[in-house]
Amino acid sequence: MKIITIPKIKKHCAVIGGGVIGLSIAWRLLQANVNVTIFERNTLARGATHAAAGMLAPQIEAEPSEEILLNFLLQSKALWQDFAGELEAASGMSVDYRTEGTLEVAMDGDQLRHIRDRYTYLDSLGLQMIWLSAAECREREPYLGRSVQGGIYSADDHQVDNRKLAKALEIAVRNAGGIIREHTNILNFTQKNSTVTGVETTAGIENFDTVIVTTGAWTKQLLGQNFPMPVPVRPVKGQMLCVQMDAAHPLIRHVVRSPEIYMVPRLDGRLLIGATLEEKGFNTQITFGGMRQLIEAAWAVLPALDEYPIVETWAGLRPGTLDDAPILGKTPIENLLLAVGHYRHGILLTPLTAKILSEIVLQ
Ligand code: FAD
Ligand code: GLY
Repeated sequence: MKIITIPKIKKHCAVIGGGVIGLSIAWRLLQANVNVTIFERNTLARGATHAAAGMLAPQIEAEPSEEILLNFLLQSKALWQDFAGELEAASGMSVDYRTEGTLEVAMDGDQLRHIRDRYTYLDSLGLQMIWLSAAECREREPYLGRSVQGGIYSADDHQVDNRKLAKALEIAVRNAGGIIREHTNILNFTQKNSTVTGVETTAGIENFDTVIVTTGAWTKQLLGQNFPMPVPVRPVKGQMLCVQMDAAHPLIRHVVRSPEIYMVPRLDGRLLIGATLEEKGFNTQITFGGMRQLIEAAWAVLPALDEYPIVETWAGLRPGTLDDAPILGKTPIENLLLAVGHYRHGILLTPLTAKILSEIVLQ
C-alpha cells in the first residue's frame, strides 16, 4: 500500500498597517511558514514608528497605577537584546541597540522633589535604580547645566534606532518571502457568518484566512462605528526636533531626561529631543509653542546645545488608549485579530507583541 501524504495548506494572513507592529508580527509568522501580505496605505513605517525616539525604558517611564502595564513592558524589555541580535542576523544591518542606560536629572528644587518621589515609588516596586548627587550626575554627563540638583540612573533602560529597526524588519520580511503592498489603502474587512474572509482594497476584495489589524492611531477609521467591541484608540500628537552633534564628541552618551523632556543621542551624532503630548486629533503641524517648550526644557538641561544646528523637526501620532495599554488578540469576529493602541511604548513592546500575536495565529 502506498501512503500518500497530503501537503499541509499554508495559512495566508493579511496584516493591515506597515509600522513596527505589523512588520514584526509578519516576520514572526513568516518564520513559522505562514504566508503573509502586508498592506500599507502610504510607504512603510512612516507613522508613529518613524516619529518615535526608540527608548526602551520600562523602568524610568513607570507610572503609578500602571503596574500591570509595567509588568508587560518589563517582559518585552527582557526579550529585546536577543530580538535585536536575531533581527540583525536576518537583515544584515544594525539597529543600534544601545545599553548605556538612562539618566533622569532635576534642574531645580521642584524637579528634585518630583524625581525623589519617583525614586521612592520606583524603589518600592523593586526596580534597580541608583540615586545620584549633582556631582555624580556631572561625572556621568559633564555637559549638564550647572544648576543640576541630582538625579536617578537606570542601567536597564536602553534605546534602539527605531527607523533602523523598521528598515531591518522590512528587509527580514522580504528575505523571508513576505509580500509588501505599499500605497494600498484597506477600506474594510470582509466576513461571512462572523468569520473574517478577507480585505477590501480600492481595487476589490482579496481573500485571507486571518486578518491582523495593526493600524495604530487610525484604527477607529478602519473598524468604523459598528465594530462589535469597543476599540478606543485615539491619536496623541508628539512633536520632536533633532540637533546634529559631532558624532566623535557627542554632548551626552546616555539617554538624558528631566521631568519635562527627554534627549536621545544616536551613534551618528543626531540628538533627538522630545516630545510634546497633545490631544489635537490628526493634526501633525509643527507649532511655535511646541518647539519653544522643547527648546527651553532642553536648554535648561544642556546649555551647550546653543551652538548646534537643528536638522529636523517632526510630529507623530501615538495610538493612545484609555489605560495606556495596547489592545491585543482575538475579537468577536473569528480570525480577525487586533494589535493596536501601543501608545508611548510601541517600540519597546514590539518583540512581545509579535510573539503573542504569532502564537495566537499558530494555535
Ligand atoms: P504606526 O507606526 O503608526 O503604523 C500604523 C500604520 O498603519 C501606518 O503606517 C499607517 O499608514 C497604516 N495604516 C493605517 N490605516 C491603514 C489602512 N486603512 N490601510 C492600510 N494601512 C493603514 N515608543 C517607544 O517604545 N519608545 C519611544 O521612545 C517612543 N517615542 C515616541 C515618540 C513620539 C513622538 C511618538 C509619536 C511615539 C513614540 N513611541 C515610542 C510610540 C511608538 O512610536 C508607537 O507606539 C508605535 O510606533 C506604534 O506602532 P504601530 O505599528 O502600531 O503604528
Ligand atoms: N515614549 C516617549 C513618547 O511617547 O514620547
